[in-house]
Amino acid sequence: MHSQSLTASNLDMLLSRMSTDSLQEPAPNGEMLELILATALRAPDHGKLRPWRYIIVEGEARIAFAQEVIAALKRKVPDLPEEKTNKIISRFSAAPALIALGIHLRPNHKIPELEQIMTSAAGAMNILNGLHAQGFGGLWVSGAYCDEPELMHKLGLSSTDQLAGILLVGTPSNDLKKPRRPNIKDYVAYWQEGEIPSFNADKGEKK
Ligand SMILES: Cc1cc2nc3c(=O)[nH]c(=O)nc-3n(C[C@H](O)[C@H](O)[C@H](O)COP(=O)(O)O)c2cc1C
Repeated sequence: MHSQSLTASNLDMLLSRMSTDSLQEPAPNGEMLELILATALRAPDHGKLRPWRYIIVEGEARIAFAQEVIAALKRKVPDLPEEKTNKIISRFSAAPALIALGIHLRPNHKIPELEQIMTSAAGAMNILNGLHAQGFGGLWVSGAYCDEPELMHKLGLSSTDQLAGILLVGTPSNDLKKPRRPNIKDYVAYWQEGEIPSFNADKGEKK
């Protein structure tokens, strides 16, 4: 039977998750990491295309990986500012572990690419929630490198594949400030015949 009790809160776990790159050791590894990653494979997946490909980067490999990401960015943005390079190096080396979120895309498949990408994103969200459920945390980052063919090759992906981004993973530091969250009422409307729903979130937005 469904419980409608507002006090029963398995939902607290989902509601309290927040992103952070203020991360310390440890990151999950071994069986714990496998279990967290397994939650990603529970994501809805139209056509069972199973587009998830996870590349784990730990220890010293993080620096070489950051250099590959920078090289990929430079191939796309030749005059990449130095502060961008520095930010990638510092973020990728400060995070105890990285998970590159590969998407094995089937171009021109009857399942649209957008749906394949959404399955990948749903998997990534499960990982973030799984991390949080076990006392870990992370931040999902991305950049123009996410569809750079040479980088895809170096990550074991094909030239038509992409990254959904990279998860910086570890244990959140204790002193994190809780972010302000938007109000759900602004993002919900009930549809009724003959009425066009409107959302408070859109009020004041130029059309
Ligand atoms: C696909 C994707 C790419 C993102 N890329 C970046 C990024 O490159 N840098 C960044 O600081 N945040 C990025 N974010 C936003 C953070 O992951 C995060 O959502 C944001 O900091 C808000 O934190 P919250 O998850 O606690 O709401 C990205 C989010 C998504 C979904």
